[in-house]
Amino acid sequence: MTQSGAITSKMAENRTFPPPAKFVEQANIKSLDEYRRMYEQSIRQPEEFWGKIAEGFHWFKKWDKVRDWKEPDVKWFVGAKTNVSYNCLDLQIEKGRGNHPAILFEGEPGDVRKITFKELRTEVCKFANVLKKLGVKKGDRVTIYMPMIPELPIAMLACARIGAPHSIIFGGFSATAISDRVGDADSHIIITCDGGWRRGKVVPLKATVDEALEIDRRVKQVVVFKRIGEQAKVTMKAGRDFWWHDLMKEASADCPAEQCDAEDPLFLLYTSGSTGKPKGIKHTTAGYMVYTAFTSKMIFDLKPNDLMWCTADIGWVTGHSYVVYGILQNGVTSLIYEGSPDFPNWERFWTMIEKHKPTVFYTAPTAIRAFMKQGRQLVDKHDLSSLRLLGSVGEPINPEAWMWYHEVVGRKSCPIVDTWWQTETGGILITPLPGITDTKPGSATRPFFGVEPDVVDRSGKTVNVNEGGLLVIRQPWPAMLRTVWGDHDRFKRTYWSDIKGCYFTGDGARRDADGYYWLMGRVDDVLNVSGHRLGTAEVESALVAHEAVAEAAVVGMPHEIKGEGIAAFVTLRKGFTASDELKKALDAHVVKEIGAIARPDQIRFSEALPKTRSGKIMRRLLREIAAGGDVKGDTTTLEDFNVINKLRQDDES
Ligand code: WT7
Repeated sequence: MTQSGAITSKMAENRTFPPPAKFVEQANIKSLDEYRRMYEQSIRQPEEFWGKIAEGFHWFKKWDKVRDWKEPDVKWFVGAKTNVSYNCLDLQIEKGRGNHPAILFEGEPGDVRKITFKELRTEVCKFANVLKKLGVKKGDRVTIYMPMIPELPIAMLACARIGAPHSIIFGGFSATAISDRVGDADSHIIITCDGGWRRGKVVPLKATVDEALEIDRRVKQVVVFKRIGEQAKVTMKAGRDFWWHDLMKEASADCPAEQCDAEDPLFLLYTSGSTGKPKGIKHTTAGYMVYTAFTSKMIFDLKPNDLMWCTADIGWVTGHSYVVYGILQNGVTSLIYEGSPDFPNWERFWTMIEKHKPTVFYTAPTAIRAFMKQGRQLVDKHDLSSLRLLGSVGEPINPEAWMWYHEVVGRKSCPIVDTWWQTETGGILITPLPGITDTKPGSATRPFFGVEPDVVDRSGKTVNVNEGGLLVIRQPWPAMLRTVWGDHDRFKRTYWSDIKGCYFTGDGARRDADGYYWLMGRVDDVLNVSGHRLGTAEVESALVAHEAVAEAAVVGMPHEIKGEGIAAFVTLRKGFTASDELKKALDAHVVKEIGAIARPDQIRFSEALPKTRSGKIMRRLLREIAAGGDVKGDTTTLEDFNVINKLRQDDES
């Protein structure tokens, strides 16, 4: 473990905001005593606690044992048989929600679709039959590369229906990123679109898939949904590529849900680590199902008539859990928007809230900061009175952004839930409960039921109140990742070896005198750029793959909107010289290797990288230099680390 993000104590933030009385009256949990009682039980008798919660779900066969825990391996609801798509759809229809909208969709061009639970089940069953007809069997990994349109959850739920784990790749990733993931998951089928709309332009998804399949040729079938039409100009390869609408024409709407084992994989989701290629986080069926449904209900205080708007792309875990699985299982409508928040202008979100009237709004601090920059008058013009609860996720929220969210978007009458979690955790672990928790701007507050966090030093000892340390979780929760796909050793090494007996999150935190958690960012070489996770090593290997680059070191730097930006220090091979053109070429190269989210904010050339005597790059020094701002204008000035290298010390200073 390297210590790259310095753990520093944040400025004391003492303001507290009790939940508004009007909210408390109607909240799903409104008594602090009730929370304490439930929390105690969830920690001391997790099997009794989760067994009781799981009663309300549909099971083909109940479990023999609630939890089987042999560190680091856990099983939940051992021996049970269930199906997540059944719980999202059929169970809701049985409960009388069949004609209620499951999805309310708005495309970027403004097209709107409303899909009821019954209609959604029909589409899901038909597509599940399409998959079966193409030869997809239980356990086969299905890659999905789609924009935010209803066919994305339809494809996911169809996979879940037949027990074929999906592996969704965010639509912003490049062909190389797709081929890496397809290869690692050994996936033979991709579901995609001709394209998607982004800022009025077509994102050429199918063309990117074609390119990826030139790199990795194992994919035998590609199903293409026609979102754009003519303008997308796709080429279809006979025998390999099929139009979604052609296949759906003949498909039957009857597809009984597969009886999946509680521990059958539901999905893989690739995320960045501190070393090497992204890892396939494996989530399984029953634990994830119960945990996402229960957290959705308690944290977003869901009621039958709510309209949930989680703005995250389904390609990230937030979308998996709180656009799709957790929300539909509560019989609640999920609002899905295809495009960009600044198209046709920065009022798009507020116009949508005025029009569709969501009650819960869940977004990322980076978006809030971008809205702040545009000024509150753009928000004030719109009627946002439908909102009763706000959520934040993805990165620490700075108190200024929290206050703006509270005052301008929430009109001081909506509780804010700042939810801390990770791709690996499957669902939210640290969060306020909106009806009972007094919130403090910038704190994710307290653990959810069944979650036992601690802040420890490197030896695993709990640190003092208000002292910075490493955030760990002391016992497993139902939605915990089960492994890293194809690399159980990496799973053990990454999460279970740094601190004995605990799940190590990779985050720094402190706990205040009220037991509130304050997250302080990653302590490993993982960056959080606009709430998106990227490994410095990933960006470095993209850079060194360019012919001009000899060596590269990538560090994070403070960024007003993104939270963290990317700074790259690069040394060149003989025969190449620093220039603006080369900077642009490297920029484009990183975008090609990973995707636009990895585009460096600064590229700085240097003769040599500053290293310790043992050869370790002095990342802290680079971070300090990067934080000082970009070299303006003259790119030919090389950073000179020669003096430092002469004075090199052995510690990573
Ligand atoms: C990392 C996980 C979980 C969904 C989106 C990100 C950071 C996430 C918060 C928060 C402070 C947060 C952590 C974490 N993070 N939520 N509320 N406060 N930091 O999932 O891509 O797996 O990233 O995001 O550093 O480790 P992810």
